[in-house]
Amino acid sequence: MAVATSPHSLLLQNPNRPLPKNPISPATRLNTVHLPAKPISIKCAATASQTQDQRPLTHAPAQSQDRVFNFAAGPATLPENVLLKAQSELYNWRGSGMSVMEMSHRGKEFLSIIQKAEADLRTLLNIPSEYAVLFLQGGATTQFAAIPLNVLKPEDPVDYLVTGSWGDKAFKEAQKFCKPKVIWSGKSEKYTRIPAFEGLEQSSDAKYLHICANETIHGVEFKDYPTPKNGILVADMSSNFCSKPVDVSKFGIIYAGAQKNVGPSGVTIVIIRKDLIGNAQEITPIMLDYKIHAENNSLYNTPPCYCIYMCGLVFEDLLEQGGLVEVEKKNEKKAKILYDAIDESNGFFRCPVEKSVRSLMNVPFTLEKPELEADFVKEAAKEKMIQLKGHRSVGGMRASIYNAMPLAGVENLVAFMKDFQARHA
Ligand SMILES: Cc1ncc(COP(=O)(O)O)c(C=O)c1O
Repeated sequence: MAVATSPHSLLLQNPNRPLPKNPISPATRLNTVHLPAKPISIKCAATASQTQDQRPLTHAPAQSQDRVFNFAAGPATLPENVLLKAQSELYNWRGSGMSVMEMSHRGKEFLSIIQKAEADLRTLLNIPSEYAVLFLQGGATTQFAAIPLNVLKPEDPVDYLVTGSWGDKAFKEAQKFCKPKVIWSGKSEKYTRIPAFEGLEQSSDAKYLHICANETIHGVEFKDYPTPKNGILVADMSSNFCSKPVDVSKFGIIYAGAQKNVGPSGVTIVIIRKDLIGNAQEITPIMLDYKIHAENNSLYNTPPCYCIYMCGLVFEDLLEQGGLVEVEKKNEKKAKILYDAIDESNGFFRCPVEKSVRSLMNVPFTLEKPELEADFVKEAAKEKMIQLKGHRSVGGMRASIYNAMPLAGVENLVAFMKDFQARHA
């Protein structure tokens, strides 16, 4: 029985006994059931699969057939191979004798992890050397304040192009630290489009133009980018970060919370042109000062070590897939299957977003008969497709199909939609 031969139990029986050289092979580790002396049942929010399978958390990890297709907007599904790799390294990272969670952030092991994560991200996005990469905390929401605090004086004018709720939140926060102006808002049209760039009335003295590259709630995505009349382009890329190639040199600052495409929540990535660093307002808290973080290679204080490690595994995985050109092709294929199903449903399903700016990542849709929406979400969950309810501010449904959503997940969803329509049309 696993419990009798696991290295831990051998140690417990005889603390002086040396551990076997290769105590548990990765394959065995995945399948070994470590039974506690007395099973503890830990309850957590039940998903469709968990309700059928109430094993204690101490048991073997879920195999792929136990996993759901998770269409959540973030925190979101992670690549299965990344989760399995993290699992195999969780207890003893690469022979270090400790978990990444237990490492000093200043030790050589973690330094190798953060440096590799940064190097791989630089390769993925082809980030020029004039840009710094920072791994920070506080979510993208903190960056709504950190950006004006770092690059503006309180009286400086800046422009915000508001194509959804996140752009609106960024604008409102900036009002505390500078003089932002909304040069266009899609609010009156329920955030369903992006304006033509030529017609935009940008302020001639604006220090930056802020956009949200992909509005997670409304499913509106920039397919190309406006050129600021004056100053730099700043983009919140939280929900389409690393989903496709991006010409970083067009931007002064790119920022993104990790929890959609590249890792767990807890780390926020900022890519900033180095000459913009070092101008923070005096009142800027030290934790928001890019100069401090850049000078200390994101290790000024204790960083979110495990989250950075997970992002590193995701970056490796994206590179192994062939980089962002290949990743984009997969994302385009998945999105096309889903949008086609919506558009070919004779109005049973509808996506309100203008076709040319529909997001590859977040697909909002409604039902012709809104009274069926709750049933749709409930029945889908029974089929192991969860988190399809639209954001509370817009209603309807939303399928987030980030990099890690397998093609099979989208195919299953489309098959379910067709079946649902056949039963309810
Ligand atoms: C586009 C966008 N910006 C900002 C945020 C806020 O991110 P955080 O919760 O990490 O602060 C989100 C969160 O969903 C988002 O989707």
